[in-house]
Amino acid sequence: MTDVVTTVSALRARLSSWRAAGERIALVPTMGALHAGHLALVARARSEVDRVVVSIFVNPTQFAPNEDFATYPRNLDSDLAALQDAADLLYAPQVSEMYPEGAATVVTVGGPAAGLESDARPHFFAGVATVVTKLLIQCAPDIAVFGEKDFQQLAVVRRLVRDLSLPVEIVGGETVRETSGLALSSRNAYFSPADRTRAAALYAALDAAAAEIGDGGNPERAIAVARLQIERAGFAIDYLELRDAETLASSDASEDRPMRLLVAARLSNVRLIDNVGVTKS
Ligand code: PAJ
Repeated sequence: MTDVVTTVSALRARLSSWRAAGERIALVPTMGALHAGHLALVARARSEVDRVVVSIFVNPTQFAPNEDFATYPRNLDSDLAALQDAADLLYAPQVSEMYPEGAATVVTVGGPAAGLESDARPHFFAGVATVVTKLLIQCAPDIAVFGEKDFQQLAVVRRLVRDLSLPVEIVGGETVRETSGLALSSRNAYFSPADRTRAAALYAALDAAAAEIGDGGNPERAIAVARLQIERAGFAIDYLELRDAETLASSDASEDRPMRLLVAARLSNVRLIDNVGVTKS
C-alpha cells in the first residue's frame, strides 16, 4: 500500500532520505478521483525515475464559486486502492496546509494562459499556477508529469517553470481514452449513458479535422465541418481552435510548426475539453 503524508514537513522528511540515497523523484499532481488516465501518468513517472510521489489536492483556488468544488469527488480510500503500489508516496494536504491562514501570494501566467480556457474560466490558471508552483517547491522533484488532456494547462506549467527557473523537467503524458475515443475524465461520471455515447462525437470530429489539416486541407473548412458534427451531437461549443502547439498562439497552418486543435464544449451541463496534435504529412 502506498504511504500517505499530509504535511509539508512530513513530505520533506521522506523526500530527503530518498535524495540522500541518490534516488530520482517524480511528482504527479492530481485532484484525486483517480482513473486510468492518471494511472498512466504514474506509470510514465515510474518508468523515468526511482521514486514516485502522487499529490491529491482538490484545489479551491482553481474553482469559481459556481463550479463543482463542493461536489468534486473525494475518496482517498478508493484512490489509494487504485494506486496500489504504483506510487511510493501519496501527498494529500488539507486546504489549511496548502493555503495557510492569511495566504496572499498568487502566481499569474500570461502567454499561453490567455484565451481558450481563460475566456470561460478567468480565475482558473492563476489557481492552477499557484498550486502547481507550491507543489513543485514543496516536493522539489526531478520531473513532474502532466497530461496532454489538459493541453493549455501543460503549456502554462511549462511556461511558469521556465519563467521562475524551477529546476524540474516537465513531462507530458498522452491522453488516455475510452474505446469510443472519449477522453477519460472524472466529469464523465456526470453523464447519462445516452450522453456518454453521444460525447464520443467530440473526439471523432476533432480527430477527423486534425487529419484533414495534417493532409494539407483548408483549416477553416475542416474546423467548420467539425463544428457542425459536434453541434449535431448536442454540444454547445465554447471554442474549437487551431493553435501553435508550443506558444498556443493562433495558427493558420501556414508555418511548418507543430500545431494543436483544441476544443471545449458542453453537453447537458457537463463541460468537456479535448485536443489532438496536428502534423503536416
Ligand atoms: P486532475 O484533473 O486530477 O488531473 C491530474 C492530471 O491528470 C493532469 O495532468 C491531467 O492532464 C491528467 N489527466 C486527466 N485526464 C487524463 C487522461 N484522460 N489522460 C491522460 N492524462 C489525464 O489537472 C488537474 O487535476 C489540476 O489542475 C492540477 C494540475 C492537479 C492542479 O490542481
